[in-house]
Amino acid sequence: MRVDVLLPLMVWLPAVLSGVVRLEDYQVDDQPCISYTIDGLRHVDCSDRGISELPQELDYDAQVLDLSNNNFATFPPQLEKFTRLQKLDLSSNILAQPMPFYFEHWQHLRTVNLSNNNYEIWFGSLRTSSIKVLDLSKNKINTIDAAALSGMPNLSHLDLSENRIYDLPMKMFTAANNLDNLILSRNYFSDVPKFQSTSLRSLHLSSCQISNLNVDSLQGMNSLLAIDLSINQIERVPDNLASNTLQELDLSYNEIGSLTDDTFSSLPHLAVLNLRGNEFREVWPTSYFASNPFLREVHVKGNRWSCDGFSVNLLLTYEYLAPKVVDERSLICYTPSNVTQMSWQQAYIQTWHATDSPESYTVMAVMIGIIIGIVVTSCVCRCLMALNRSDPPATNGETTVLNANSNALQPRAESVEIRVPLREEDLPPTYDEALLMPRLNSFHSLPDFVDEELDEPTRHYRRSRSIGDLTEHRPRTSDRRSVRRTRMVEIYIN
Ligand SMILES: *[C@@H]1O[C@H](CO)[C@@H](O)[C@H](O)[C@H]1NC(C)=O
Ligand SMILES: *[C@@H]1O[C@H](CO)[C@@H](O)[C@H](O)[C@H]1NC(C)=O
Repeated sequence: MRVDVLLPLMVWLPAVLSGVVRLEDYQVDDQPCISYTIDGLRHVDCSDRGISELPQELDYDAQVLDLSNNNFATFPPQLEKFTRLQKLDLSSNILAQPMPFYFEHWQHLRTVNLSNNNYEIWFGSLRTSSIKVLDLSKNKINTIDAAALSGMPNLSHLDLSENRIYDLPMKMFTAANNLDNLILSRNYFSDVPKFQSTSLRSLHLSSCQISNLNVDSLQGMNSLLAIDLSINQIERVPDNLASNTLQELDLSYNEIGSLTDDTFSSLPHLAVLNLRGNEFREVWPTSYFASNPFLREVHVKGNRWSCDGFSVNLLLTYEYLAPKVVDERSLICYTPSNVTQMSWQQAYIQTWHATDSPESYTVMAVMIGIIIGIVVTSCVCRCLMALNRSDPPATNGETTVLNANSNALQPRAESVEIRVPLREEDLPPTYDEALLMPRLNSFHSLPDFVDEELDEPTRHYRRSRSIGDLTEHRPRTSDRRSVRRTRMVEIYIN
């Protein structure tokens, strides 16, 4: 058993047993809430403690109160004392009560988090101009009062995701004329809910089982910039779906199989279009986007594009979409099998200009080959020249390196140096040696040659070549013969 567990046990077990301290007292004294200050805001954190009542002594001047992940079924009575609160987190409790009336007097309350509670109905009795963020996600809300937001003119972010809403009152948002971001994802809508808002810019309707989109689905939201309709069951986008403001349309993971020239023709400011994971087969013509000059980002991955027909449209749409798609690998053919995984462009080119490209590839390959050949040859030549020119220095350099690396190799380097002096055979003979050399070129043999030459000219020619320059085959006159004989006599004298 660890000391840090053992020690308190030893201290308070006897006290409990003797009746001096009661167990409940000890728990309350154990400070269920922590107080601290961050960025000049005083926090009281009572989260994650399984409590259903607030302890008595708390910092009622706190600006942030975290009561999340507890067992509050009602707003605790002491809450009324936190008049300076800016942020109240009561998420993950079991509340089903409307918000208390005293919120109306709190001037600084901005954020109320009631996510993950037990609300089934949402009433709108409260009049507060301070609340800007209201999180009602992960409840069981199926009914919303038409006046639910009528008292919250400054509400800008409302999260109603993961509830059981299948319809919204038409006039629900008319008074909330600062509402900017509305999250209705994971509810039970089958249509885009019809309501009016002059301020809403971002509407989330993901995972709602919506199967219908109507021409007027976006009407009434005359400042809408982005709508998320992903993960629904929409099969058709109606022609002339109209919005003069919409810039981002997310229709990913629906069941849309076709578009027309008029699908996006009434969305003049469309900039981002997400059609991932739908059922498109036929490659679109670029005319579908003729009215969308600001389109800059298109998502089309996860559609099984058919490149059948190999029309020039493959090429044109590819060139139009390629700069706009985030992942260029999404413009690939799924069928027919001989072009699966090829880009639309590749499939078209391979089919209609199959002969062009291999030829150009061959020419390119040959040219690259020639260039490599030239480079390699010149390198080899240069290396050889460099070796010839700087043999001794190269050897010296090698010796140094070898010495640095290992002494065992030193003898080898020395032997290289020894080889440098000229070999004995290369030296000119000394005078004495010269005297001892065979006298191949001596003149006394000449008379024989001359005689032979006179008898057989061809034979003499061969022999004279084998002997050397002095006996070269030359026209011999009687004069020359006599001169040689005279010289011979001179040698004898010497
Ligand atoms: C509300 O609390 C939940 C759970 O703690 C959290 O995930 C969510 O972001 C909070 N909402 C806001 C608006 O702070
Ligand atoms: C693929 O097959 C089709 C016929 O189904 C043919 O027209 C086309 O030329 C082929 N494409 C390639 C690149 O082989």
